[in-house]
Amino acid sequence: MEQFSKAVLDRMAYLEHADRREPGEGTIRLRQISKETGQFLLNLARTAPQGEFLEIGTSGGYSALWLSQACKERDITLTTFEREPYKQKIAEETFNTTNTTIHFIKDDAANHLNKYKHIAFCFLDSTKDTYIPFYNSIIPNLMPEGILAIDNMISHKRSLREFIALVRQDSRITVEEIKIGTGIFICRKTKLL
Ligand SMILES: C[S@@+](CC[C@H](N)C(=O)[O-])C[C@H]1O[C@@H](n2cnc3c(N)ncnc32)[C@H](O)[C@@H]1O
Repeated sequence: MEQFSKAVLDRMAYLEHADRREPGEGTIRLRQISKETGQFLLNLARTAPQGEFLEIGTSGGYSALWLSQACKERDITLTTFEREPYKQKIAEETFNTTNTTIHFIKDDAANHLNKYKHIAFCFLDSTKDTYIPFYNSIIPNLMPEGILAIDNMISHKRSLREFIALVRQDSRITVEEIKIGTGIFICRKTKLL
């Protein structure tokens, strides 16, 4: 296991439990990544070049805890975006109770993405209808060998057909499909562009 503090391990366990609860009155599914996916993303993020680390779709902050570990190791800060007030509250609690240093932007990522021009790593895990516009704004601003990891690429294969075709024909990147959790695409920017 990674060298997480007890506070981080406790909060991860709490969020894992919360996400397994049946949805009922007053509860909203966090729809977070699995623990295995978290470990995978952390290892992947460690291979990214120097530059900015972003996450689109914070939910309760679970994946951000994993990615923040990679950021901590290189002395940088993760920027994560969440537009739903209810989830912002849970994520805020996650970052406060774990003492996580983070740039938490409580707004639609669409209002901010054009500020990031040196993206080393981005985890895209927002609503599926935002994937095409976010992809189009991230790829030009990825560093050489920078990584865009995209979630739900197997679970939502049918509804993402148009997006998948766009990614697969893009000569600016190499793409790999990983069968972990709900399926991840790893897009890596080609070195020479
Ligand atoms: C699948 S959940 C994210 C789970 C989280 N990455 C994790 O694994 O812990 C998707 C989240 O993205 C948020 N979201 C969707 N579109 C967004 C946008 N355009 N800007 C910011 N947040 C967005 C939703 O409110 C939702 O909380």
